Formats: sequence, C-alpha cells, structure tokens
Amino acid sequence: MSGFELKHTHAPKSKIIFNSLLPDTDEAVKRWLQKKVLWEGMMKSTGDFDIRHRFLHYNLRFCGIEVQNKIIATNMIKMKRLAGKVSVITGAGSGMGKAMALLFAEEGAAVVVADVNQQAIEQVVSDITAKGQRAKGVVANVAIQEDIDRMISTAVSEFGSLDVLVNNAGILDNFKTVGELEDELWNRIMDVNLTGPFKTSRAAIRIMEKQESGGVIINNASVGGLFGSRGGAAYVASKHGLIGLTRNMAATYGLYGNIRVNAIAPGGVDTSIQSSITAPSELGMKALNDTGFAPLGKPEQLAYVALFLASDESSFVNGEVIAADGGWTAR
Ligand SMILES: NC(=O)c1ccc[n+]([C@@H]2O[C@H](COP(=O)([O-])OP(=O)(O)OC[C@H]3O[C@@H](n4cnc5c(N)ncnc54)[C@H](O)[C@@H]3O)[C@@H](O)[C@H]2O)c1
Repeated sequence: MSGFELKHTHAPKSKIIFNSLLPDTDEAVKRWLQKKVLWEGMMKSTGDFDIRHRFLHYNLRFCGIEVQNKIIATNMIKMKRLAGKVSVITGAGSGMGKAMALLFAEEGAAVVVADVNQQAIEQVVSDITAKGQRAKGVVANVAIQEDIDRMISTAVSEFGSLDVLVNNAGILDNFKTVGELEDELWNRIMDVNLTGPFKTSRAAIRIMEKQESGGVIINNASVGGLFGSRGGAAYVASKHGLIGLTRNMAATYGLYGNIRVNAIAPGGVDTSIQSSITAPSELGMKALNDTGFAPLGKPEQLAYVALFLASDESSFVNGEVIAADGGWTAR
C-alpha cells in the first residue's frame, strides 16, 4: 500500500475521500490523479452500484493500492446517496418539498420539481441546474388527474425511470372542528392531502412494478396523522388516512414486491404553510395549545429524514411512520 491512508471513510463528499486516498509517491500520485478524472466522469454517468464497485477496485489496484476491507471500500463509493435515482417531489416549490428537492439533487438524484406555483418551481429548478445537477419543473396540481399523469410521465421521458415519489404537497384547514367545517373545505383538504397521494402513488406504482429495481414512496404526513389535536378535523382525518394508505401500500407492494412505502410525521416546521392559518378555530387552537410546547424545526431537518427513506440505506424499512418533531409527541 503505497502511502495509502484512510482518514475519512465516513465523509460523504468525494473531495474529502479523494484527498484522504492520495498516495505518497510521485508516480502513484500522477496515476491516481489521472484515474480520478476518469472516475469522476464515470460516477456522473452511472448509479449502478456493482459497476462503481468494480471500477473503484480496478482504479485503486492500478495505483498500487490494495483495499482489503470491503466495508471500507463500500463506504468510499457511497459518495452520493441517491446517485442514478430519479425522483418526483410534489409541493417542491416551497418549505420541506423544496429542501428535499435541493438535497436529493445534491445527493445525485434527478428531480422532477412539481408544484402549483410556477414561479417557485422555476426558482428551485434554476437553483439545482446552476450547480450542474439535474431537475425538471412541472406545474402540477395533485388534485387533478391529468396533472398527475403529466408529472409522473415527465420522470420517465426526461430521466428514464421513476425511483422515488415523495407525496409532500399538503394544505392546512385553519384548525376547524367538525361543527365548523363546510363541505368545500373538507373536500379540498381531502383532495390534496389524501386523494392526491393515492392517485400519484397509483400512477407511480404502475411504473415502479415494471422496474427490476422497484421504487420508493415517501408520504409527508404529520403528527396530525398520529394524534387528534395537531390540526383541524379535516387535516387530522386526511393525515390519519395518509398513514393508513402508507401502511396498506407497504403491506402489499412492499412486503410482496419491491416498492417500499414509508411516511414522515413532522411536528412544527418553519415553512410558509404557517401563513395559511388566517382565521383559526378558537376550539381547535385551544386543543392545539393544550399539547404544550412544540419545537419548531427547519425544512432541511425533515429533508434529511426523507433522504434516508429514499436511499438504499433504508432498504429494510417499510411501512414505518417516522415522527420528526423535536420531541413534541414524546411526552
Ligand atoms: N410546516 C409544518 O409545520 C408541517 C407539519 C407537519 C406536516 N406538514 C406537511 O408537510 C407538507 C409540506 O408542507 P410545508 O410546511 O413545506 O408547506 P409549504 O406551504 O411551505 O409548501 C407546500 C407546497 O405545496 C404546494 N401545493 C399546495 N397545494 C398543492 C397542490 N394541490 N398540488 C401541488 N402542490 C401544491 C404549495 O404551492 C407549496 O409550494 C404538507 O403535506 C404538510 O401538511 C407540515
């Protein structure tokens, strides 16, 4: 092993890993750098784990480096956690969806950025593509079937597959209680928060079940999907429904197939959804306030939960609901 020193095997970024691998003889350094250019080009062009693995070993041997420990070698090639994957994220123009889109792209995924807000989509897409990463914007309302079809088919037509669907788009209901709820608000909440994810998942599953690699669905639910007073009646019912839908898909397509389905249950997160609380129900707010102090998370903190669920690191996690609320529901 000519000067091979492994300092940062856990570092996710290729730069640190390459630096930590630098051999110490002039000739080896020259060869290494030459191969590094090839390696980086190749990393961009394939997400295939086996090819990357073999390529890494070949390169290291070429430079006179023998890597005996397969786990260390595997850690070294896990540079991009979503390399080669294609994702669709709904409600990706703002808040958690935007944070997920930026993080997924950073981690090597191509991202279909879907939202009802065109301007917001354009901003997210340009933020991603400016860094040389891959994204395509689609104006899509998850309550409209044609929009869903266009959104899902864009993943395949633009990037060749659909590996990860994040059902993130969702709206609040001003904490209205049952006696205060009009049909229109109930239906709107259900259409976006529950029927939307059902229809997007249906469209995605029809593609994923034909792919050898299957796929992953992540539903952004809420602690309102686990408890009664973290939202109004329609919101709480829609998010409980979304968790039920998650478990049903996990118990069928995940257990007997190759499509894992999980949910995230965020607590309070600092996003623009808060500004939609315009005329909250007094009774609904009283019930909410009685749940006590709720820490306020940042969208990026939730994006990392989604990243774990989207990546192969969570390959044995199926049908789970991961609460990420800073401890709000722990007491
Ligand atoms: N922020 C919180 O405190 C919190 C807590 C728990 C769960 N959630 C859930 O997280 C998800 C994301 O919320 P956020 O806080 O990031 O909100 P946000 O308002 O910042 O972002 C939501 C995005 O969804 C888009 N959207 C709304 N309706 C849509 C539709 N019909 N079709 C497509 N896009 C649509 C909006 O334009 C917006 O860009 C929601 O499902 C929400 O219920 C939020």
